[in-house]
Amino acid sequence: MSNKIVIAIDGYSGCGKSSTAKAVAAALGYGYIDTGAMYRSVTLYFKEHNIKLTDPKAVKAALKEINISFVYNDKSGLNETFLNSKNVEKEIRKMYISEGVSEVAVIAEVRKAMVDQQRKMGKKKGVVMDGRDIASVVFPNAELKVFMTADVRIRAERRQKELFDQKQLVNLEDIIDNLKKRDRIDTSRAESPLTQVEDAMEVDTSFMNFDEQVNVIVEAAQKLIGK
Ligand code: DC
Repeated sequence: MSNKIVIAIDGYSGCGKSSTAKAVAAALGYGYIDTGAMYRSVTLYFKEHNIKLTDPKAVKAALKEINISFVYNDKSGLNETFLNSKNVEKEIRKMYISEGVSEVAVIAEVRKAMVDQQRKMGKKKGVVMDGRDIASVVFPNAELKVFMTADVRIRAERRQKELFDQKQLVNLEDIIDNLKKRDRIDTSRAESPLTQVEDAMEVDTSFMNFDEQVNVIVEAAQKLIGK
């Protein structure tokens, strides 16, 4: 019998964290938890209920009403996000949520509530969790810690191609500016900033294709699992 482990994947925006984490989980038969989706769901709830971010009492009370879960959808092959039993997977990816989420993710009470839920979700192990503070805060004892990075220009070119495929033409320099801004917010905020912990395996995807970046993590995991 093999031991189940926790795999923590942190890193910059736009370096393929979520798709890699999902593929690693599928290869190992593990669960996948997208913690960014949890902060996005809280943002949606706050917007729907007109919660003022500057009102700590209202924020605290609202957090008690929020329950987030993930349900695997056979048809789409996606782990879909549910907020209080409602499927919000599509809604939380919309631009108005992307624009509001960093303001919500800096609130200490929000982070505390999410970290509590994430620890419960990973308690039985056999999970891949991706985010910004998984190795540093949520699971500092995770058996495998991965820090994903890639050159900002290469990340921007990949994002530009994705947008082009969705028929959106966006200037490369604008995408670079946006990524740099998000990197700055993620790494400099007071609450749980994105950091590379000392014992994390660095995966720089600048010159890797998707299969290579998945395989390097799966192989490291299999060594630890003893497969
Ligand atoms: O990975 P993403 O873009 O879906 O994340 C959405 C936002 O949530 C982004 O602003 C970073 C933040 N986040 C965080 O602060 N901590 C995490 N563990 C995951 C995401």
